[in-house]
Amino acid sequence: MRLLITAGPTREPIDPVRFIGNRSSGKLGLALAQGAHDRGHDVHLLLGPVNSPIDLPAAVKITRYETTAELQGALHAAFAGCDTLVMAAAVADYTPQTIHTGKLPRQADGSLTLTLKPTPDVVASLAPLKRANQTVVAFALENPENLIERATEKMRRKKVDAIVANRLETMDADSIDPTLLTADGQTIPAGPMAKTAFADWLLDQIQTLG
Ligand code: CTP
Repeated sequence: MRLLITAGPTREPIDPVRFIGNRSSGKLGLALAQGAHDRGHDVHLLLGPVNSPIDLPAAVKITRYETTAELQGALHAAFAGCDTLVMAAAVADYTPQTIHTGKLPRQADGSLTLTLKPTPDVVASLAPLKRANQTVVAFALENPENLIERATEKMRRKKVDAIVANRLETMDADSIDPTLLTADGQTIPAGPMAKTAFADWLLDQIQTLG
């Protein structure tokens, strides 16, 4: 299988030294890339700016990105060449309307207002390009109330084949307690486990989805 994985946060620049980011560590995506390589899959990882050590076999192709726009470009370039996409990246929903060319100075009158504009929904933008034999798995990070309902709605809206529903505490943690929802109506709880074990569990599930 040719597996394309996105992982890690995005960084949306405010000026040359500051950005809007998030707490994603990329740990799950890195574990998925290692696990998929160990199973003999052909792996391409699109990796955001993470602090986690990157110790992957040389056969795993890695493309780095920082911004949502760069991720969108890299993903559109790579998508046609994959059988399965696992969209684990934590993508910004908003980006500054303008990027200041010089370092933004402290404001003499106190407050500073940043105007943000929406980013594209990257995984949803792939729906028109998807071939019948391609599988797309997205992630949903949700508040605990209505977790499954919100993740189901997200799966339908983004037109993906499956979505991994996660509670907020998952971000930057070593363990996970997710539920996999599929477009054909299955609800499969994984149970609490380490992210490395979950990577293996998800790869098993993906093989049955495809
Ligand atoms: N995603 C994306 N492009 C975005 C935002 C999210 O491709 N601009 C993808 C993520 O990689 C993930 C899925 O969509 O696979 C759900 O991400 P999540 O942050 O849970 O949902 P949002 O679409 O951002 O919705 P909300 O913030 O309202 O929960």
